[in-house]
Amino acid sequence: MTKKILILPGDGIGPEIVSEAVAVLEEIKDKLGLAFELDEALLGGSAIDATGVPLPDETLEKAKSSDAILLGAVGGPKWDELDTAIRPEKGLLGIRSQLDLFGNLRPAILYPQLADASSLKPEIVAGLDILIVRELTGGIYFGQPRGVRTLENGEREGYNTYVYSESEIRRIAKVAFESAQKRGKKVCSVDKANVLEVTVLWREILDEVAKDYPDVELSHMYVDNAAMQLVRAPKQFDVMVTGNMFGDILSDAAAMLTGSIGMLPSASLNESGQGMYEPCHGSAPDIAGQGIANPLATILSAAMMLRYSLAEVEAADLIEKAVSNVLDQGLRTADIYSDGMQKVSTREMGEAVVAALRAL
Ligand code: NAI
Ligand code: MG
Repeated sequence: MTKKILILPGDGIGPEIVSEAVAVLEEIKDKLGLAFELDEALLGGSAIDATGVPLPDETLEKAKSSDAILLGAVGGPKWDELDTAIRPEKGLLGIRSQLDLFGNLRPAILYPQLADASSLKPEIVAGLDILIVRELTGGIYFGQPRGVRTLENGEREGYNTYVYSESEIRRIAKVAFESAQKRGKKVCSVDKANVLEVTVLWREILDEVAKDYPDVELSHMYVDNAAMQLVRAPKQFDVMVTGNMFGDILSDAAAMLTGSIGMLPSASLNESGQGMYEPCHGSAPDIAGQGIANPLATILSAAMMLRYSLAEVEAADLIEKAVSNVLDQGLRTADIYSDGMQKVSTREMGEAVVAALRAL
């Protein structure tokens, strides 16, 4: 069956980096004879400029009927004056909630060619390849009740509610185990079960779900220890799974172990396996339109899309290999440039990946 991929370039550097990822998708499609078709729609600033709203109905309809979405980025000072309800970022949040994209996958991979970009010693991060699976639509970020109230003595207190239902835990656990099956077959679940009842339940459900995945090894770790282990010995991890808030913090820490924002892809999945794939970075308005942005995070997001939403593992492997080969050749966009390397533009980097793919 022909799969439908929706391309959402967005605004800022989005269109520049996405067009390189599309060229890579076209190349892999020809090379392996894959069955997918690409469609495109407006989101964020480009949608506001054309239609007045960040998430036009047509875009939402196309998103709902697609198997996967590849997004560039949205947001920028041009639209800062607008009310938050119609700002570019609202379009992104709208798609996430409308499609119930609860499973956020953030790999942190250190390319050996970029080892000196990391804040850690080479021997600690060399070969780093971990995947953080973060629950994205529940937990303390969404729990009710929440607010700031005034007590009888006049003092104010702020409060939030940390809540996860069994079904919410079960579905993110499945994403983690299924991801681990496609990688190193280890899941480390991160919680605070020594203090928080929510995560006692979390731990219980993880143990239960683990029984369905006998080929995957499950371990549990308290979040404070996990933070410590991430910077002490990050290579001990394969897949880490955790709730919304712990995942927010740990995934940013893990991302920085790799040192380069222009290299990091991400995926957000829902229960039907539909997913939205995007670079971790934003729309970089400071360099938009200059043709110097790094397209590799978006190209690697396209590879994740093939792996997770289209089950085209070989295609994903080939794209990742092509990216690695291009780095071996010494090609670098400005954000990952170091002495002795060859500085290239967005377009040149994209063309080099296509050429590397053709040569594989
Ligand atoms: P940013 O990630 O856009 O930029 C941070 C810094 O990294 C900038 O100096 C930028 O030039 C650089 N950078 C980012 N991506 C790069 C790439 N591919 N190649 C080379 N350099 C790159 O974050 P910032 O500046 O905080 O946000 C800018 C806008 O993006 C804001 O409107 C923000 O709301 C939006 N944003 C959108 C996201 C999305 O669409 N998913 C995520 C994060 C921010
Ligand atoms: Mg964050």
